[in-house]
Amino acid sequence: MKIGKSEYALRRKRLMSEMAPDSVAIIPAAREVTRSRDTAYPFRQNSDFYYLTGFQEPDAVLLLLPGRRQGQVLMFCRDRDPERELWDGYREGPEGVVQRFGMNDAYPISDLDEIAPGLIEGRSTIYYSMGHDDLVDRQVLGWVNHIRTQVRTGAKPPGDISDLAFILHEHRLIKSDSELRIMQRAADISSEAHCRAMRECRSGRFEYHLESSIQHSFAEKGARFPAYNSIVGSGKNACCLHYTENDAKMADGDLVLIDAGCEYHGYAADITRTFPINGRFSPEQRAIYNVVLKSQLAAIAATKPGKKWNHPHDVTVKVITQGLIDLGLLSGNLNDLIESGAYTDFYMHRAGHWLGLDVHDVGDYRINGKWRPLEPGMVLTIEPGIYVAADNMTVDPKWRGIGVRIEDDVVVTESGCHVLTSGVPKDADEIEALMAAA
Ligand code: GLY
Ligand code: MN
Ligand code: MN
Repeated sequence: MKIGKSEYALRRKRLMSEMAPDSVAIIPAAREVTRSRDTAYPFRQNSDFYYLTGFQEPDAVLLLLPGRRQGQVLMFCRDRDPERELWDGYREGPEGVVQRFGMNDAYPISDLDEIAPGLIEGRSTIYYSMGHDDLVDRQVLGWVNHIRTQVRTGAKPPGDISDLAFILHEHRLIKSDSELRIMQRAADISSEAHCRAMRECRSGRFEYHLESSIQHSFAEKGARFPAYNSIVGSGKNACCLHYTENDAKMADGDLVLIDAGCEYHGYAADITRTFPINGRFSPEQRAIYNVVLKSQLAAIAATKPGKKWNHPHDVTVKVITQGLIDLGLLSGNLNDLIESGAYTDFYMHRAGHWLGLDVHDVGDYRINGKWRPLEPGMVLTIEPGIYVAADNMTVDPKWRGIGVRIEDDVVVTESGCHVLTSGVPKDADEIEALMAAA
């Protein structure tokens, strides 16, 4: 299921073919981040670096030097160190990254400052994404300054520092068949976890019980980490968009909203389901739920190549605003309420985002100021919601504190889109049936 060595090589080749002649790209790995005193957060590789190498160690830098005769693809990485490896685990070392990761050449990271200026000298453009890591920013500028001090001996400092993202993130936006296979697996694992949470939900249990069964479900399938912090919000907590305390007792008669997706071989899934804690929707919950579902299904049907990025969002706004009027939560003319943004009291976020190695994945949404058209291979979420704040005094009290979001992941195909996350039900009757059978 892993991406093969040859695909990584192709990605690098394609990137180099679009870089300026006489340029160099510098792509650093992520660093370990301290969680407390001498323990670190679980290491997560930088997505750009991972996309180009598949290499999972910190303290590494990839250098791409198109046209360089002695080797175009260089890696600086941690040296082998039996003492450190005894404590912290195996390291590939320079030899390992050449043999197993297809680098042309590799050096110990401790030699980077000494070797890098010589590699950069004479190249007109540096591709480097500034502003993500102060230390590397300073290091790169230090190399450039070092070359500047040598101009009287004939050294040529680079004239340009350009953001690699403009090229690389366009590549990452369109997923290959092997990426889609991994994303389907991430979606399947995550769908199964949501089904399990529905089956295990009982009033009187706590939100963290559902979070833990989701986490267990991910990890036992080899997806050890969620792609983002899981949200399990019951009752009015569902109206807080980034609620992650997950520590409230779940009350009979309330809904619970779960937004959780695993990371599998680096790729994210991102699913939201909302269901009744006691297994039966109340009439008000069902009414709001069905408006959100209708808008989500309409947006999925509207997701096709050639349609603009914003089109599915506009579809959700229209269906939701009409639904809010029908339920008496908004009053007025449909177009006026859309125009004035009145619906944003209830639906205040966008209908989705790109999905890939990052949960909010890279890639522009607009080109030259205009929403870009959808293309086959793009993966996005479709996640409309309605949230009636518990303190919204303008609505009938029966609606207050109801929050519903339904989120699926879809890949744009030649003729429309394919839902990756169809393994977990979203029809209200199907959810009730699944919960009743538990
Ligand atoms: N879970 C983050 C999002 O849905 O965008
Ligand atoms: Mn989500
Ligand atoms: Mn999302």
